[in-house]
Amino acid sequence: MDEYLNKGIKEIIEKFPAVEDVLNDYDIGCGPCNVGICLLKDIVAIHRLPEDQEQQLMARIAKAIRPDQDIKIPKIEKKAAAQPEEFKYSPPMKKLVDEHILIKRWIALIPEVVKNLDLESEKGRRLILDGIDMIRSYADKFHHAKEEDILFKYFDENSDILKVMHEDHTHARSLVKEMLDALEKRDPKTIAKNLMAYRELLTEHIRKEDEILYPWMDNQLSTHQVGELFSKFDEADQQISVSTDKYENFIDRLEKKFKNQEG
Ligand SMILES: [Fe+2]
Ligand SMILES: [Fe+2]
Repeated sequence: MDEYLNKGIKEIIEKFPAVEDVLNDYDIGCGPCNVGICLLKDIVAIHRLPEDQEQQLMARIAKAIRPDQDIKIPKIEKKAAAQPEEFKYSPPMKKLVDEHILIKRWIALIPEVVKNLDLESEKGRRLILDGIDMIRSYADKFHHAKEEDILFKYFDENSDILKVMHEDHTHARSLVKEMLDALEKRDPKTIAKNLMAYRELLTEHIRKEDEILYPWMDNQLSTHQVGELFSKFDEADQQISVSTDKYENFIDRLEKKFKNQEG
């Protein structure tokens, strides 16, 4: 079993497809994940199941790999204190997770924005411009820049997972560019299509970061690196100087507007 703990989960699932069903039973959706380079031992450590469930999961994986053998289950080392349900992020990682919250509030509003799309009025066009500004200034310049220019530099940027994260950021930028072109042409269909694509892309991207990438990174970083990251993030925030209040107000206003429409 030890040899499999250090193998990539994708490789294991390819060889032993039954492992995917076992992981699904524990709500660990590795099969559809297009990255899949996490090692089996990282997956078990990251998801922080209660001890009895972890033992049960490992026993079932062992059975799926070697149905004919009785395999001893090794204990997985966890570097931080176990928090079964919720991962305890380090302060700099928590900062990024907190920034995701505002981005998630924006993407939750996108279906309503699309439903009420009005490019003929000045007010309607302004709303789309403000939404694009939120994506470019807050999600990209303020948030993605800290990931790309600071956090990712602590890891192998040629690893598949970081390449996928970079590609997601680049893809998001190209969707924004198409939104701006479509706004100029007053083409509601293309704006709607790109906003919905952005929503889908970022929902999955943030989920991967919150649930897999950041906890994994946190486990790799030394205490010294965590402190260093925290001050580098602070420095970057001051340099970028984006008014987070402005975007919080934008989201508050929009949430109220759609809530009132419902009522
Ligand atoms: Fe990201
Ligand atoms: Fe992020």
